[in-house]
This record gives sequence, C-alpha cells and structure tokens, in this order.
Amino acid sequence: MKITLKVWRQAGPQDKGRMVDYELVGLSEDMSFLEMLDVLNEELFARGEDPVAVDSDCREGICGACGVVINGVAHGPERTTTCQLHMRSFADGDTVTVEPWRADAFPVIKDLVVDRSAFDRIIAAGGYISVNTGAAPDAHATPVPKADADRAFEAAACISCGACVAACPNASAMLFTAAKVTHLGLLPQGQPEREARVVNMLDQHDAEGFGGCTNIGECAAVCPKEIPLDVINWLNADLRTALTHGG
Ligand code: SF4
Ligand code: FES
Repeated sequence: MKITLKVWRQAGPQDKGRMVDYELVGLSEDMSFLEMLDVLNEELFARGEDPVAVDSDCREGICGACGVVINGVAHGPERTTTCQLHMRSFADGDTVTVEPWRADAFPVIKDLVVDRSAFDRIIAAGGYISVNTGAAPDAHATPVPKADADRAFEAAACISCGACVAACPNASAMLFTAAKVTHLGLLPQGQPEREARVVNMLDQHDAEGFGGCTNIGECAAVCPKEIPLDVINWLNADLRTALTHGG
C-alpha cells in the first residue's frame, strides 16, 4: 500500500505545531496503525529526523494509551482503539490525517502525545472504595444481583483512553466520569462513598477544564469499549440524590 500521511508535528507544549506530509510505500494492509507509524519513525530516524512522538503500551486494546484522531475521528474509522486499527481499513493511495486529542484539559506534550493526567485526578477524587485490610474475603461473601454485576462490568470496561473527550464538541469527560461512577455505584462495595464520589469526581472534572455534557452523544459513538450513553443518566440520578442529601 501507498499512503500519504498528514501528521501533526509539535516540538513541545509551547510550539504552535503544524501538519507535515509524509509519503509511505510498501505498507502491508495487515499492519496495525501503530506499526505503520513505526515504519514512518524508522524512516525518519534513518534520515536523522525527529521521530513522531506517539503514546502506546499494550497494543492490544486494553491500556487506553494510544488514542489519536484519524481523518477527524477519534481512533479512526473503526470502533476500536488506535492500536487495534489496521491498514486494511484504508484504501491504497489514501491520504490520512493524524492528530492528537484536542481538548484544553489534555495539553499536547509532543506531536501526538497529550497529557491525560486530568483523568488520574478525577479518579483520585472519588474512583475508589474503602477496603478493610486483612485476609481476602471469601468469594460470594457479598452477593451481587446478576443484572447489577453485568451493568457494573459493562461500565468497568472503560480504559480511560479519552476518545470521548476528543469527540465531544464540549470536550466533556462525562462519559468517562459516569462510567466510573456507575461501575462503583452498582456494587455493594461502592456504597459507603457513593454520594461523596459523584460530587467530588464532578467537581474535579470541572476544575480540570472539561466542558459540560449537552447530550450530543459523540462520546458513546466513538468509545472503543462501547460504554453506553445512559451511564450519564445514572451519574445524574446519583448527583440528584447526593445534592438532596446536602452533598
Ligand atoms: S468512556 Fe470510552 S471513550 Fe471514554 S475514556 Fe472510557 S473507554 Fe475511552
Ligand atoms: S496501546 Fe493499549 S489500548 Fe492501544
């Protein structure tokens, strides 16, 4: 395959950044998108040029590190992570644009790499449960109804990739935050902090500069883990309860 890449290059947080064109030939359609970027970087390295900075870790769709905007869509044309996207999703001769997540709360560090530590601070504000130390409890010591376990598991599939923020016109992280609130709020272990959790996580969400949710739904449309939009209903219900109780 031959591909023309238009890649966002930005030397550092203060650099203005620009799109730079690269021609790649001899690509296999079985390459992942990240392997294609590896080929580009090997060529740049061989020419003595600065390789394109791009984040990745697991390369199997579970760590959430690798997201970029491809042809204007977070994670590109398939509903999966960037590392699980393959070149067969593009046609020979295509021009493909590659940009970092765009959101004030995700400042660009270099090229395609953004700082997603705002997510860590939202988690630190409430994405935990109280746990007793000592021996591990017996399995099934705390029964969980099957429907709740399934729903909690569905929400827990969020890998904190940030695509929801990148896709949202408001740069809101509500789908991410609501996935965490729903996951923990459905389980018995999540009840002690439940009301404080939703208030504190939303306060941190806003403090980080993410926008408000206006129910557009772009977030759920690009989420590689198919987190459903209605987790935001769950978050809103929890917030109403917490505020009613003076949270
Ligand atoms: S809700 Fe989906 S898109 Fe958003 S961070 Fe979690 S996995 Fe990524
Ligand atoms: S590198 Fe881990 S999800 Fe893509």
